[in-house]
Amino acid sequence: MPLDETIQTDGPRLDGAEWWRTAVIYQVYPRSFADSNGDGIGDLPGITSRLSALADLGVDAVWLSPFFTSPQKDAGYDVADYCDVDPLFGTLDDFDALRRRATELGLRVIVDLVPNHSSDAHDWFQRALAAAPGSPERARYLFRDGQGENGELPPNNWQSVFGGAAWSRVTEKDGTPGQWYLHLFDSSQPDFDWENPEVRDQFLDVLRFWLDRGVDGFRIDVAHGLIKKDGLPDYTPPKDAGSMGGGLAEDQTPPYWAQDGVHDIYRSWRALLETYPGDRILVAEAWVEPLSKLSNWVRPDEMHQAFNFSYLESGWSAPSIKGVIDSSLEVFDSVDAPSTWVLSNHDVVRHASRLALTADNAQGAGIGPKSSGLPDTAVGLARARAATAVMLALPGSAYIYQGEELGLPEAIDLPDEARQDPTWFRTAGERYGRDGCRVPLPWEAESPAFGFNTTGESWLPQPEGWAPYARDAQEGDTGSTLELYRLALALRHEFALGSGTVEWLPGYGPDVVAFRNGQITVIANTGSVPVELPVADELLATVELEGAALPADATVWLRVS
Ligand code: GLC
Repeated sequence: MPLDETIQTDGPRLDGAEWWRTAVIYQVYPRSFADSNGDGIGDLPGITSRLSALADLGVDAVWLSPFFTSPQKDAGYDVADYCDVDPLFGTLDDFDALRRRATELGLRVIVDLVPNHSSDAHDWFQRALAAAPGSPERARYLFRDGQGENGELPPNNWQSVFGGAAWSRVTEKDGTPGQWYLHLFDSSQPDFDWENPEVRDQFLDVLRFWLDRGVDGFRIDVAHGLIKKDGLPDYTPPKDAGSMGGGLAEDQTPPYWAQDGVHDIYRSWRALLETYPGDRILVAEAWVEPLSKLSNWVRPDEMHQAFNFSYLESGWSAPSIKGVIDSSLEVFDSVDAPSTWVLSNHDVVRHASRLALTADNAQGAGIGPKSSGLPDTAVGLARARAATAVMLALPGSAYIYQGEELGLPEAIDLPDEARQDPTWFRTAGERYGRDGCRVPLPWEAESPAFGFNTTGESWLPQPEGWAPYARDAQEGDTGSTLELYRLALALRHEFALGSGTVEWLPGYGPDVVAFRNGQITVIANTGSVPVELPVADELLATVELEGAALPADATVWLRVS
């Protein structure tokens, strides 16, 4: 596509520094942000119309989860056409308008690239189904003959992240049961064969398409999954491993996660991005642990950032938070990448609920009415506010998931018939999945669908009690979570915390996270005993302080003169 007037401005400029090293990036989940046409599903014009709220919040960039042509079997992470907008969300013109508006507001725009798999409705997969075993059409995906006398057993024992076998069998043209294809996710999401140069070329074209449209970067979905080990050997993950590969030791490498071959792909993408003006970035969604291994994704010639899921999973515990902060700063620094920080996204239980769960909850499992260890809402919110106030004081780049600035909890009581996550179906209701963190946002306390649209439709029902979380109910209320985020982001900017350093402050005891970043002292109490505070100017507190003590589940930012 020729460069057109929509990309002349080359995005906002931030003092000449590499903006992404310190940026706060806000994740927009398009289905649930704002709905302009009232069909109950959010869309691009809806996002554009509400974008000023994000500039006003004080973030630097937005990352949009997929809005591409898709049958929506996995909420858009099943892409049928990587270079077009699904009519559900609008048109390419709507995307251009969104990007233009973002530029006016000083916001950068990151889009989501899903390279591990396509939708089964993708033209390539449809052709593969129509073609014969061994054909070039099938070679773009991972088709294999089955095991057993008549090929009736899957080619190996791999399990899908969403539950059940990672293989489905096709029916050949003559009506006989045929080959199997690999899908690490839903059966509607066939995995590409990344050893095939055609696949590599296709994605370079997709990157060019969006770069030419002026995007500032890409969040790379399942960035640890593209290459599979030769021979596709059987593998049984340890019981406590996360379904996406988190929680493994350095020497445990499943044959479908974190294979060395992925790095060449990202080097070629980085080289492509470097040919474009401006600082465009690649962000890895790679559930790779420990962090020392994840840092391979952000070596100088690979991606710019990787989500820090070890931080997300550190829980509300000072020793574990401090440990992850230390190792994050060390390992990312060793490859000259910024650390990132993240507490919520569209795949995990919202941190306003997760931090008060009393039972383990694996990534993607979700919570529902029958879950054990359900959270106390008030404790969850207090911890979420306190945890966010730690996160936004850290050097590096931070991610905010839509709705966390409103203090939204996970929607636990969704009716079974409303649930849509493939995890729910593939596990026959055993895992609730991720719908509870994806409910459409409340904007206005008194409007239909809380201002998500004007018709009151909502693809997932919004809990009745959400009016107090609505943005307009929180605006101007200094005790609200919205104003807490706004203040934290303004102070983060004013005191340049994103480019600062962490200096631990001793003497506060094991349940306290206490550090200095430049002029700001941050103290967070994850224990149950109040903590004596030094005499200092209070710049931010996640609770109203009485006297000089910091209660449990609270954080302060102080300026010590
Ligand atoms: C990533 C996405 C998740 C999706 C999966 C398959 O983990 O964040 O939402 O279901 O990949 O694309």
